[in-house]
Amino acid sequence: MNPLSPPQSSELRLSVVLPTYNERQNIESVVNGLLPLVEQFSLEILFVDDDSEDGTAEEVRRLAHQYPVIRLIRRVGRAGLSSAIKEGILDATGDLVVVMDCDGQHEPATVACAVKRLLESNADLVIGSRFHAEARIHGLSDRRERNSTLANSIARFSLPHYRRLTDYMSGFFAMRPEAALPLVRRVDVNGFKFLYELLAISGGRLKVEEVPLTFQARIAGDSKLDLAIVWDLGVSILHTLLLRSVPRRAISFALVGCSGVVVQLAVNSLLMAFGLSFEQALPPAVVVAATSNYLINNALTFRFQRQQGLALLRGLLKFLVVASLPVLANVGIASAFYSLVSHDTLFAQLAGIVVVFVWNYAASSRFVWNSP
Ligand code: GDD
Ligand code: MN
Repeated sequence: MNPLSPPQSSELRLSVVLPTYNERQNIESVVNGLLPLVEQFSLEILFVDDDSEDGTAEEVRRLAHQYPVIRLIRRVGRAGLSSAIKEGILDATGDLVVVMDCDGQHEPATVACAVKRLLESNADLVIGSRFHAEARIHGLSDRRERNSTLANSIARFSLPHYRRLTDYMSGFFAMRPEAALPLVRRVDVNGFKFLYELLAISGGRLKVEEVPLTFQARIAGDSKLDLAIVWDLGVSILHTLLLRSVPRRAISFALVGCSGVVVQLAVNSLLMAFGLSFEQALPPAVVVAATSNYLINNALTFRFQRQQGLALLRGLLKFLVVASLPVLANVGIASAFYSLVSHDTLFAQLAGIVVVFVWNYAASSRFVWNSP
């Protein structure tokens, strides 16, 4: 008998992947919600924990002694949500795999519903959508809901093959590994939005369906969504719009560079307002902008290799040294441009800035954050 055919038999092996970071208080109730699935499936509940400090892994082990359907992957250090989801899917042994949040926001009842749709529609992927006409959202603040709607519209624009879908950022989805695994392997894990990446990579090759999701408030603890995650999403979408040809890290570095441009122009005009000449104001403006670029890159672009404490200071010095060649070039080009080409201070500075971007990116990746 084909193991994927619809009859509700316990031969069908279902894996539920639950990424966790500091969710100790929520584990037991999520497990209790999922356990009734053993009546329909041969069940595996797979936790991927990123070294939570709150005893999440210990709680999972305690429950695993009670229920052998539970497995735990415990990773040292925090490698991020997408990376945890990817690892969970690759390690799952089920004929079907469901990924969901482990904080009570996704209802266990949606699992059976998504799996049913997966089997009946012959889809490769079924998304639990917060924006489906029949979805109910209880656990999102108005602000977060507005932001998600906006992010979703931009995502829709960047994914022409999937325009009819309603939720590209959901943390709930069910899939057939045999169809999705080759694509899952290629998902770039530097991001929070695994689903968006998977859809972007698949370029229309996956047959995708949606079911409504009831989105509840968290049971306990806090969301891990932060500025860095929103930043990653922006980078992911730009990466897709640039046809995935420019490395994500270079995009992030360039965006930070743009913020540096604003800092440099602002400091420069401030100093000139205090009576300094253009040539006098330029060097301090460039150094302040370089320092700001370093700190922002450390917090966003290279946060998985982030420097802290004394290393942060050492890193800054290295960054300034690495950047000093182009800083000199930057000042040189800008000054030359100013005196030879045009007395326009804006264009003079932009000319210097553009010339140094490539060097800075390549050299500081290598020498400051030690990543090729
Ligand atoms: N292993 C691991 N590592 N798990 C993580 C990490 C991490 O770095 N960060 C978050 N998680 C786990 C959480 O413990 C939780 O089970 C799940 O991933 C979702 O994290 P939340 O922090 O609750 O995210 P959220 O509710 O703000 O966002 C969720 O909903 C969004 C839609 O609003 C996620 O599912 C997003 O993917 C989704 O876009
Ligand atoms: Mn959540």
